[in-house]
Amino acid sequence: MGVVLAYTDAVARATGSLYAKVSRVIPEIEWHVHAPLIAEINRLKRQKHAVILGHNYMTPEIFHCVSDFVGDSLALAREAARTDASVIVQAGVQFMAETSKILSPQKTVLIPDARAGCSLAASITAADVRLMRQKHPGLPVVTYVNTSAEVKAQSDICCTSGNAVAVVEKIAADFGTDAVIMIPDQYLARNVAAKTGIKVITWAGACEVHERFTADEIRGLRAAHPGVAVLAHPECPPEVVAEADFAGSTAAMIGYVGQHHPRRVVLITECSMSDNVAVEYPDVEFVRPCNLCPHMKRITLAGILKSLETMTTEVVVDPVVSARAKIAIDRMLALKS
Ligand code: 13P
Ligand code: SF4
Repeated sequence: MGVVLAYTDAVARATGSLYAKVSRVIPEIEWHVHAPLIAEINRLKRQKHAVILGHNYMTPEIFHCVSDFVGDSLALAREAARTDASVIVQAGVQFMAETSKILSPQKTVLIPDARAGCSLAASITAADVRLMRQKHPGLPVVTYVNTSAEVKAQSDICCTSGNAVAVVEKIAADFGTDAVIMIPDQYLARNVAAKTGIKVITWAGACEVHERFTADEIRGLRAAHPGVAVLAHPECPPEVVAEADFAGSTAAMIGYVGQHHPRRVVLITECSMSDNVAVEYPDVEFVRPCNLCPHMKRITLAGILKSLETMTTEVVVDPVVSARAKIAIDRMLALKS
Protein backbone atom coordinates (compact mmCIF):
# COMPACT_ATOMS: atom_id res chain seq x y z
CA MET A 1 0.00 0.00 0.00
CA GLY A 2 1.04 3.58 -0.29
CA VAL A 3 2.74 3.10 -3.68
CA VAL A 4 2.39 6.17 -5.93
CA LEU A 5 0.89 4.89 -9.15
CA ALA A 6 1.94 7.14 -12.01
CA TYR A 7 2.81 6.52 -15.64
CA THR A 8 6.57 6.86 -15.20
CA ASP A 9 9.36 5.89 -17.60
CA ALA A 10 9.95 2.77 -15.53
CA VAL A 11 6.27 1.81 -15.85
CA ALA A 12 6.36 2.50 -19.60
CA ARG A 13 9.42 0.22 -19.95
CA ALA A 14 7.92 -2.54 -17.78
CA THR A 15 4.64 -2.56 -19.71
CA GLY A 16 5.72 -1.61 -23.23
CA SER A 17 5.55 -5.11 -24.69
CA LEU A 18 2.07 -5.60 -23.19
CA TYR A 19 0.83 -2.39 -24.78
CA ALA A 20 2.19 -3.45 -28.13
CA LYS A 21 -0.14 -6.44 -27.86
CA VAL A 22 -3.34 -4.65 -26.84
CA SER A 23 -2.94 -1.28 -28.57
CA ARG A 24 -5.63 -2.17 -31.15
CA VAL A 25 -8.29 -2.47 -28.44
CA ILE A 26 -7.08 -0.08 -25.69
CA PRO A 27 -6.62 3.63 -26.57
CA GLU A 28 -3.32 5.19 -25.42
CA ILE A 29 -5.04 7.62 -23.06
CA GLU A 30 -6.59 4.68 -21.19
CA TRP A 31 -3.30 2.81 -21.17
CA HIS A 32 -1.69 5.56 -19.10
CA VAL A 33 -4.21 4.77 -16.36
CA HIS A 34 -3.93 0.99 -16.67
CA ALA A 35 -0.16 0.62 -17.01
CA PRO A 36 0.90 1.62 -13.44
CA LEU A 37 -1.71 -0.76 -12.00
CA ILE A 38 -0.55 -3.55 -14.31
CA ALA A 39 3.11 -3.08 -13.36
CA GLU A 40 2.29 -3.13 -9.65
CA ILE A 41 -0.03 -6.16 -9.91
CA ASN A 42 2.61 -8.14 -11.80
CA ARG A 43 5.25 -7.22 -9.19
CA LEU A 44 3.02 -8.20 -6.26
CA LYS A 45 2.04 -11.46 -7.94
CA ARG A 46 5.66 -12.56 -8.05
CA GLN A 47 6.29 -11.42 -4.48
CA LYS A 48 3.26 -13.34 -3.12
CA HIS A 49 3.58 -16.41 -5.34
CA ALA A 50 0.11 -15.69 -6.66
CA VAL A 51 -1.54 -16.66 -9.91
CA ILE A 52 -4.39 -14.79 -11.61
CA LEU A 53 -7.00 -16.95 -13.34
CA GLY A 54 -8.84 -14.75 -15.86
CA HIS A 55 -12.13 -15.67 -17.47
CA ASN A 56 -12.67 -14.92 -21.16
CA TYR A 57 -15.12 -12.11 -20.20
CA MET A 58 -12.49 -10.03 -18.42
CA THR A 59 -11.63 -6.70 -20.03
CA PRO A 60 -8.51 -6.81 -22.26
CA GLU A 61 -6.19 -5.10 -19.75
CA ILE A 62 -6.99 -7.86 -17.23
CA PHE A 63 -7.20 -10.67 -19.78
CA HIS A 64 -4.00 -9.91 -21.68
CA CYS A 65 -1.88 -7.97 -19.19
CA VAL A 66 -2.15 -9.51 -15.71
CA SER A 67 -3.76 -12.96 -16.09
CA ASP A 68 -1.41 -15.94 -15.88
CA PHE A 69 -4.00 -18.28 -17.22
CA VAL A 70 -7.12 -17.46 -19.25
CA GLY A 71 -9.98 -19.57 -20.46
CA ASP A 72 -13.55 -20.77 -20.10
CA SER A 73 -15.02 -22.07 -16.84
CA LEU A 74 -13.79 -25.60 -17.54
CA ALA A 75 -10.20 -24.59 -18.29
CA LEU A 76 -10.07 -22.34 -15.22
CA ALA A 77 -11.33 -25.17 -12.99
CA ARG A 78 -8.71 -27.54 -14.42
CA GLU A 79 -5.98 -24.95 -13.81
CA ALA A 80 -7.16 -24.27 -10.24
CA ALA A 81 -6.78 -27.98 -9.52
CA ARG A 82 -3.20 -28.17 -10.86
CA THR A 83 -1.52 -24.80 -10.12
CA ASP A 84 1.33 -24.85 -7.59
CA ALA A 85 0.91 -21.16 -6.67
CA SER A 86 0.09 -20.43 -3.02
CA VAL A 87 -2.54 -17.82 -3.85
CA ILE A 88 -5.21 -17.83 -6.57
CA VAL A 89 -6.81 -14.51 -7.52
CA GLN A 90 -9.98 -15.29 -9.43
CA ALA A 91 -10.61 -12.70 -12.12
CA GLY A 92 -14.13 -13.92 -12.64
CA VAL A 93 -17.27 -14.36 -10.58
CA GLN A 94 -18.05 -15.92 -7.21
CA PHE A 95 -18.98 -19.41 -8.41
CA MET A 96 -15.63 -19.67 -10.23
CA ALA A 97 -13.74 -18.63 -7.10
CA GLU A 98 -15.69 -21.16 -5.04
CA THR A 99 -14.88 -23.88 -7.56
CA SER A 100 -11.19 -22.99 -7.29
CA LYS A 101 -11.35 -23.14 -3.49
CA ILE A 102 -13.13 -26.51 -3.56
CA LEU A 103 -10.46 -27.91 -5.89
CA SER A 104 -7.55 -26.36 -3.97
CA PRO A 105 -8.74 -26.09 -0.35
CA GLN A 106 -5.20 -25.66 1.00
CA LYS A 107 -4.63 -22.53 -1.14
CA THR A 108 -5.71 -18.96 -0.43
CA VAL A 109 -8.34 -18.05 -3.04
CA LEU A 110 -9.16 -14.36 -3.40
CA ILE A 111 -11.95 -12.66 -5.32
CA PRO A 112 -11.38 -8.93 -5.99
CA ASP A 113 -15.09 -8.11 -5.56
CA ALA A 114 -17.20 -10.48 -3.49
CA ARG A 115 -20.39 -9.01 -5.01
CA ALA A 116 -19.55 -10.52 -8.42
CA GLY A 117 -22.43 -12.99 -8.62
CA CYS A 118 -24.33 -14.62 -11.47
CA SER A 119 -28.05 -14.67 -12.32
CA LEU A 120 -27.89 -18.45 -12.79
CA ALA A 121 -26.21 -19.11 -9.44
CA ALA A 122 -28.77 -16.84 -7.73
CA SER A 123 -31.72 -18.69 -9.27
CA ILE A 124 -31.55 -21.95 -7.29
CA THR A 125 -30.87 -23.22 -3.77
CA ALA A 126 -29.82 -26.58 -2.32
CA ALA A 127 -33.38 -27.05 -0.98
CA ASP A 128 -34.73 -26.62 -4.53
CA VAL A 129 -32.45 -29.43 -5.73
CA ARG A 130 -33.56 -31.74 -2.94
CA LEU A 131 -37.20 -31.12 -3.91
CA MET A 132 -36.45 -31.87 -7.57
CA ARG A 133 -34.86 -35.17 -6.58
CA GLN A 134 -37.94 -36.09 -4.54
CA LYS A 135 -40.16 -35.29 -7.50
CA HIS A 136 -38.04 -37.29 -9.98
CA PRO A 137 -36.56 -40.21 -8.04
CA GLY A 138 -33.77 -42.17 -9.73
CA LEU A 139 -32.78 -39.44 -12.18
CA PRO A 140 -29.21 -38.11 -12.03
CA VAL A 141 -28.73 -34.43 -11.23
CA VAL A 142 -26.41 -32.56 -13.60
CA THR A 143 -25.53 -29.13 -12.24
CA TYR A 144 -24.02 -26.30 -14.24
CA VAL A 145 -20.87 -24.92 -12.57
CA ASN A 146 -22.63 -21.54 -12.47
CA THR A 147 -24.12 -22.45 -9.06
CA SER A 148 -23.25 -22.18 -5.37
CA ALA A 149 -21.15 -24.81 -3.60
CA GLU A 150 -24.28 -25.89 -1.68
CA VAL A 151 -26.11 -26.65 -4.93
CA LYS A 152 -23.13 -28.55 -6.32
CA ALA A 153 -23.05 -30.56 -3.08
CA GLN A 154 -26.56 -31.86 -3.86
CA SER A 155 -25.57 -32.98 -7.37
CA ASP A 156 -24.28 -36.14 -9.01
CA ILE A 157 -22.06 -34.36 -11.50
CA CYS A 158 -21.23 -30.83 -12.65
CA CYS A 159 -20.87 -29.59 -16.19
CA THR A 160 -19.77 -26.45 -17.99
CA SER A 161 -20.88 -25.20 -21.38
CA GLY A 162 -17.69 -26.80 -22.71
CA ASN A 163 -18.61 -30.36 -21.76
CA ALA A 164 -22.38 -30.33 -21.11
CA VAL A 165 -23.20 -32.73 -23.97
CA ALA A 166 -20.52 -35.25 -22.97
CA VAL A 167 -21.48 -35.03 -19.27
CA VAL A 168 -25.19 -35.59 -19.93
CA GLU A 169 -24.52 -38.53 -22.25
CA LYS A 170 -22.13 -40.14 -19.75
CA ILE A 171 -24.28 -39.73 -16.65
CA ALA A 172 -27.44 -40.94 -18.44
CA ALA A 173 -25.49 -44.05 -19.53
CA ASP A 174 -24.05 -44.58 -16.01
CA PHE A 175 -27.50 -44.33 -14.42
CA GLY A 176 -29.18 -46.28 -17.24
CA THR A 177 -31.78 -43.53 -17.79
CA ASP A 178 -33.05 -41.68 -20.86
CA ALA A 179 -33.69 -38.52 -18.82
CA VAL A 180 -31.66 -36.31 -16.49
CA ILE A 181 -32.31 -33.39 -14.19
CA MET A 182 -30.22 -30.53 -15.57
CA ILE A 183 -30.14 -27.29 -13.61
CA PRO A 184 -30.39 -24.32 -13.43
CA ASP A 185 -30.04 -23.00 -17.02
CA GLN A 186 -33.21 -23.80 -18.94
CA TYR A 187 -31.64 -22.79 -22.26
CA LEU A 188 -28.42 -24.76 -21.88
CA ALA A 189 -30.56 -27.74 -20.85
CA ARG A 190 -32.83 -27.42 -23.89
CA ASN A 191 -29.85 -26.95 -26.21
CA VAL A 192 -28.23 -30.10 -24.80
CA ALA A 193 -31.49 -32.04 -25.10
CA ALA A 194 -31.73 -31.03 -28.77
CA LYS A 195 -28.18 -32.27 -29.40
CA THR A 196 -28.32 -35.53 -27.43
CA GLY A 197 -31.96 -36.64 -27.70
CA ILE A 198 -31.85 -37.17 -23.91
CA LYS A 199 -34.85 -35.78 -22.04
CA VAL A 200 -33.97 -33.01 -19.60
CA ILE A 201 -35.96 -31.81 -16.64
CA THR A 202 -34.73 -28.34 -15.97
CA TRP A 203 -35.15 -25.18 -13.90
CA ALA A 204 -36.32 -21.69 -14.86
CA GLY A 205 -32.87 -20.10 -14.53
CA ALA A 206 -31.21 -18.06 -17.27
CA CYS A 207 -28.08 -16.03 -17.85
CA GLU A 208 -29.11 -12.38 -17.84
CA VAL A 209 -26.58 -11.66 -20.60
CA HIS A 210 -27.37 -14.43 -23.08
CA GLU A 211 -31.16 -14.55 -22.62
CA ARG A 212 -31.39 -11.05 -24.10
CA PHE A 213 -30.25 -12.12 -27.57
CA THR A 214 -33.07 -12.86 -30.01
CA ALA A 215 -33.37 -14.78 -33.27
CA ASP A 216 -34.57 -11.57 -34.95
CA GLU A 217 -31.38 -9.83 -33.87
CA ILE A 218 -29.28 -12.59 -35.46
CA ARG A 219 -31.22 -12.35 -38.72
CA GLY A 220 -30.73 -8.56 -38.64
CA LEU A 221 -26.97 -9.01 -38.14
CA ARG A 222 -26.77 -11.38 -41.11
CA ALA A 223 -28.63 -8.91 -43.31
CA ALA A 224 -26.46 -5.98 -42.20
CA HIS A 225 -23.13 -7.86 -42.40
CA PRO A 226 -23.21 -10.24 -45.38
CA GLY A 227 -21.13 -13.39 -44.96
CA VAL A 228 -20.75 -12.98 -41.20
CA ALA A 229 -20.09 -16.21 -39.24
CA VAL A 230 -22.41 -16.31 -36.22
CA LEU A 231 -21.08 -18.07 -33.12
CA ALA A 232 -23.41 -18.34 -30.13
CA HIS A 233 -22.98 -19.40 -26.53
CA PRO A 234 -25.28 -22.30 -25.51
CA GLU A 235 -26.71 -20.17 -22.67
CA CYS A 236 -28.62 -18.38 -25.46
CA PRO A 237 -32.24 -19.38 -26.13
CA PRO A 238 -32.55 -22.38 -28.52
CA GLU A 239 -34.07 -20.22 -31.28
CA VAL A 240 -30.90 -18.07 -31.20
CA VAL A 241 -28.65 -21.15 -31.28
CA ALA A 242 -30.73 -22.43 -34.24
CA GLU A 243 -29.85 -19.26 -36.18
CA ALA A 244 -26.11 -19.59 -35.45
CA ASP A 245 -23.43 -21.33 -37.54
CA PHE A 246 -21.83 -22.74 -34.40
CA ALA A 247 -22.64 -22.96 -30.68
CA GLY A 248 -20.07 -23.58 -27.98
CA SER A 249 -18.43 -22.39 -24.81
CA THR A 250 -16.35 -19.22 -24.82
CA ALA A 251 -13.22 -21.33 -25.43
CA ALA A 252 -14.94 -23.26 -28.22
CA MET A 253 -15.84 -19.97 -29.95
CA ILE A 254 -12.22 -18.84 -29.77
CA GLY A 255 -11.21 -22.24 -31.15
CA TYR A 256 -13.63 -21.79 -34.05
CA VAL A 257 -12.15 -18.41 -34.98
CA GLY A 258 -8.63 -19.88 -34.84
CA GLN A 259 -9.54 -22.89 -36.94
CA HIS A 260 -11.80 -21.30 -39.57
CA HIS A 261 -10.42 -17.75 -39.74
CA PRO A 262 -13.77 -16.29 -40.86
CA ARG A 263 -13.39 -12.97 -42.67
CA ARG A 264 -16.18 -11.55 -40.50
CA VAL A 265 -17.52 -12.96 -37.27
CA VAL A 266 -19.99 -12.11 -34.54
CA LEU A 267 -19.70 -13.66 -31.08
CA ILE A 268 -23.14 -13.87 -29.49
CA THR A 269 -21.94 -13.55 -25.93
CA GLU A 270 -20.51 -11.02 -23.45
CA CYS A 271 -18.89 -7.83 -24.81
CA SER A 272 -15.28 -8.33 -23.75
CA MET A 273 -14.86 -11.58 -25.67
CA SER A 274 -14.60 -9.85 -29.04
CA ASP A 275 -11.96 -7.40 -27.75
CA ASN A 276 -9.89 -10.24 -26.30
CA VAL A 277 -10.06 -12.43 -29.39
CA ALA A 278 -9.55 -9.50 -31.80
CA VAL A 279 -6.10 -8.98 -30.24
CA GLU A 280 -5.04 -12.41 -31.53
CA TYR A 281 -6.73 -12.16 -34.96
CA PRO A 282 -6.12 -8.73 -36.51
CA ASP A 283 -7.24 -10.00 -39.93
CA VAL A 284 -10.73 -10.98 -38.73
CA GLU A 285 -13.49 -8.34 -38.63
CA PHE A 286 -15.50 -8.58 -35.41
CA VAL A 287 -19.10 -7.36 -35.54
CA ARG A 288 -19.91 -6.33 -32.00
CA PRO A 289 -23.46 -6.34 -30.65
CA CYS A 290 -22.84 -5.86 -26.98
CA ASN A 291 -24.38 -7.38 -23.85
CA LEU A 292 -22.35 -6.68 -20.72
CA CYS A 293 -22.26 -8.96 -17.71
CA PRO A 294 -22.53 -6.56 -14.75
CA HIS A 295 -21.04 -9.21 -12.45
CA MET A 296 -17.94 -9.85 -14.52
CA LYS A 297 -17.48 -6.10 -14.90
CA ARG A 298 -17.11 -5.69 -11.13
CA ILE A 299 -13.61 -7.09 -11.57
CA THR A 300 -11.19 -4.26 -12.34
CA LEU A 301 -7.42 -3.71 -12.24
CA ALA A 302 -7.80 -1.49 -9.16
CA GLY A 303 -9.81 -4.23 -7.47
CA ILE A 304 -7.23 -6.89 -8.32
CA LEU A 305 -4.43 -4.74 -6.96
CA LYS A 306 -6.30 -4.10 -3.70
CA SER A 307 -7.06 -7.78 -3.43
CA LEU A 308 -3.35 -8.66 -3.64
CA GLU A 309 -2.29 -5.85 -1.30
CA THR A 310 -4.79 -6.68 1.41
CA MET A 311 -5.27 -10.40 0.65
CA THR A 312 -9.03 -9.93 0.42
CA THR A 313 -11.71 -11.10 -0.10
CA GLU A 314 -10.75 -14.61 0.86
CA VAL A 315 -13.17 -17.24 -0.42
CA VAL A 316 -14.35 -19.65 2.28
CA VAL A 317 -16.39 -22.79 1.65
CA ASP A 318 -17.74 -24.92 4.48
CA PRO A 319 -15.53 -28.07 4.54
CA VAL A 320 -18.46 -30.52 4.59
CA VAL A 321 -20.18 -28.76 1.67
CA SER A 322 -16.85 -28.49 -0.11
CA ALA A 323 -16.10 -32.21 0.18
CA ARG A 324 -19.53 -33.13 -1.26
CA ALA A 325 -19.33 -30.54 -4.03
CA LYS A 326 -15.84 -31.78 -4.94
CA ILE A 327 -17.20 -35.23 -5.73
CA ALA A 328 -19.50 -33.72 -8.41
CA ILE A 329 -16.75 -31.49 -9.81
CA ASP A 330 -14.13 -34.28 -9.83
CA ARG A 331 -16.55 -36.56 -11.64
CA MET A 332 -16.83 -33.90 -14.36
CA LEU A 333 -13.07 -33.32 -14.52
CA ALA A 334 -12.47 -37.06 -14.86
CA LEU A 335 -14.16 -36.85 -18.27
CA LYS A 336 -11.60 -36.14 -20.94
CA SER A 337 -13.80 -33.67 -22.88
P1 13P B 1 -17.88 -20.51 -20.32
O1 13P B 1 -16.68 -19.63 -20.32
O2 13P B 1 -17.62 -21.75 -19.55
O3 13P B 1 -18.40 -20.78 -21.70
O4 13P B 1 -19.05 -19.78 -19.50
C1 13P B 1 -19.63 -18.63 -19.87
C2 13P B 1 -20.20 -17.90 -18.74
O5 13P B 1 -21.20 -17.28 -18.84
C3 13P B 1 -19.49 -17.92 -17.49
O6 13P B 1 -20.08 -17.10 -16.61
FE1 SF4 C 1 -23.62 -15.48 -14.96
FE2 SF4 C 1 -24.25 -14.86 -17.46
FE3 SF4 C 1 -22.63 -13.26 -16.13
FE4 SF4 C 1 -21.78 -15.68 -16.89
S1 SF4 C 1 -22.34 -14.00 -18.22
S2 SF4 C 1 -21.51 -14.75 -14.87
S3 SF4 C 1 -23.66 -16.87 -16.72
S4 SF4 C 1 -24.78 -13.69 -15.61
